[in-house]
Amino acid sequence: MSNPFLIGENMTGGYGRGADILHDCTISVAKGEIAVIVGPNGAGKSTAMKAVFGMLNLHKGSVRLDGEDITKLAPQARVAKGMGFVPQTQNIFTSMTVEENLEMGAFIRTDDFSNTLSQVYDLFPILKEKRYQAAGELSGGQRQQVAVGRALMTKPKLLMLDEPTAGVSPIVMDELFDRIIEVARSGISILMVEQNARQALEIADKGYVLVQGRNRFTDSGKALLADPEVRKSFLGG
Ligand SMILES: Nc1ncnc2c1ncn2[C@@H]1O[C@H](COP(=O)(O)OP(=O)(O)O)[C@@H](O)[C@H]1O
Ligand SMILES: [Mg+2]
Repeated sequence: MSNPFLIGENMTGGYGRGADILHDCTISVAKGEIAVIVGPNGAGKSTAMKAVFGMLNLHKGSVRLDGEDITKLAPQARVAKGMGFVPQTQNIFTSMTVEENLEMGAFIRTDDFSNTLSQVYDLFPILKEKRYQAAGELSGGQRQQVAVGRALMTKPKLLMLDEPTAGVSPIVMDELFDRIIEVARSGISILMVEQNARQALEIADKGYVLVQGRNRFTDSGKALLADPEVRKSFLGG
């Protein structure tokens, strides 16, 4: 890819003074495309997302967004540059209402965000219905909608999702993936980590298989799904 919208290139680093978790790991996403990171538990998928978002001290490598080097920027500054991040866990405020969660998502904005709120409700109508309910009372799939909606409130150009379908039924997973495709079609680049590797690669323009913090396979989602070795080792045959 010659001119990706986002690239974390040769990222090497770990947590605090601990050993490196990522080793020359490279992840990129083109404008309006969906890139998916898959791999075994503990492979460093979440760590790679955190590295891209600025939550890790990289001692090698760089992160560029829309051509700009953002390697040294703090996560808040990356949000201001157009990154939205939905972490794997604790991604909503359970005691706050759905609408309060979405409003919190807009914390960085000084303009009127009511249009964005309407767009999020159009994307996830159930959230409008439940807007005055505590987010903690919602089902797993609805909570994930709140988390995604919250990230959309800053009008990101890149949306990063760490296992958005964790713990939801196959039907709810399909629905969430449809919504994610819709977001990508609106021009927002998506970088997503998924345990449901096969289904996620089906909607991926680009896929990354990470193993032990390293790039193991990188190709289109389609090509990875067709690769016998990827199938055997990472997709259950
Ligand atoms: N906050 C942390 N501090 C120290 N080590 C961590 C932390 N989070 C994850 N790790 C370690 O980093 C490695 C990769 O973890 P992670 O990125 O969460 O994997 P994945 O998301 O692919 O399951 C694991 O060995 C894990 O124990
Ligand atoms: Mg993870």
